[in-house]
Amino acid sequence: MEVHIEDLRLAYNGVPAIRDLSLTIGDGESIVLLGQSGCGKTSTMRCVAGLEEPTGGSIRIGERTVFDAVANVNVPSHKRNVGMVFQSYAVWPHKTVLENVIFPLRMKKVGRRQARADGLKTLELVGLGHLADRGASLLSGGQMQRGALARSMAMKPSVLMLDEPLSNLDARLRDDLRVELRRIQVEQGLTSLYVTHDQQEALALADRIAIMRDGIIAQLGTPQQIYSTPASAAIASFLGVTNVFPVTSTHSANRVTLIEHPLELAVDEPIEYPESSACIRPDDIDVRPRETRIGERNRFAGEVTVAVFQGASIRYQVKLTNGPVIDAICPQNAHGVLAVGSSVDVSIDPSSIMVLPNEVPEVRVSERVAA
Ligand SMILES: Nc1ncnc2c1ncn2[C@@H]1O[C@H](COP(=O)(O)OP(=O)(O)OP(=O)(O)O)[C@@H](O)[C@H]1O
Ligand SMILES: [Mg+2]
Repeated sequence: MEVHIEDLRLAYNGVPAIRDLSLTIGDGESIVLLGQSGCGKTSTMRCVAGLEEPTGGSIRIGERTVFDAVANVNVPSHKRNVGMVFQSYAVWPHKTVLENVIFPLRMKKVGRRQARADGLKTLELVGLGHLADRGASLLSGGQMQRGALARSMAMKPSVLMLDEPLSNLDARLRDDLRVELRRIQVEQGLTSLYVTHDQQEALALADRIAIMRDGIIAQLGTPQQIYSTPASAAIASFLGVTNVFPVTSTHSANRVTLIEHPLELAVDEPIEYPESSACIRPDDIDVRPRETRIGERNRFAGEVTVAVFQGASIRYQVKLTNGPVIDAICPQNAHGVLAVGSSVDVSIDPSSIMVLPNEVPEVRVSERVAA
């Protein structure tokens, strides 16, 4: 069911947590809220679930307005038909897995037989059918997590909200559950709002990603759009672009100079905003032993300060002569692992340098959200 959030505001004791947030989640769409700690992700979900009373704006779920500050509408949480899975998954330890799933259904006056059938079906869906009769406290962390998910899904919520549901799990299990969640989402056509601060998870689970900064949505787009064209240096940096250097213009539109170092970069895009940075992904930077002649623009001399073997790739930190420390990820190649202290050439293709405003200009925020 479509969820429509308009001009949402929320303050805790007068301190704004959500400043002005508008977002429409399409029917069956999965939106991931991505952003730094404290930017307002959980607060946004709690407002939709009816667990917080916003200070302004409106929220509609399907055809029904569940909150409207002006019209004084505030539908209580239990009447909103919203499922929420929290980061710290609470299961009732003295009940079996199945009883955990059935309990909320029984509270909703679903008949015993029907509740049992629905509960079992949902447990099958998350791969826990075989553990239905086990005590809930006897599950592993990942199984409990899936139990909590099944409990929310059994309610057939109009919208399912998941707040960092996988963050307590180990990396392997998280990968598996991520894929499983995506499958369930697509199969069931679930409308969902998912919160994470893990960008890999966001890229994997989202139809669209909403990047939150300080209580607003700074950028909204498909995972591909957000990844290839972040709207600001702050967003790029949050998405794992580790080389971010403040720059100013030079005499030429095709060159920028680093503010903190006496170094110029050739770029393809001119500076558009007064406070901008050159942003370069570590995997777009090439590191080779000194004196291999490559004859291209943006080639700098430097010295390896850190070399980390990562299997298929090697991660380097290189201190450029009269320049910053550069973070590079290079594929395994004929050079092997270049030792710490080696003299190297670092080269950066101008087309891989993104020149971005440090923060999203506020005028563009509203345009982007409207788009
Ligand atoms: N109950 C509360 N009382 C007062 N301030 C709160 C309360 N809950 C959250 N805040 C504040 O509101 C802001 C947004 O908090 P929120 O929990 O929504 O952040 P978040 O994006 O979910 O962060 P995280 O990634 O750390 O979970 C923060 O500055 C936080 O300190
Ligand atoms: Mg949170």
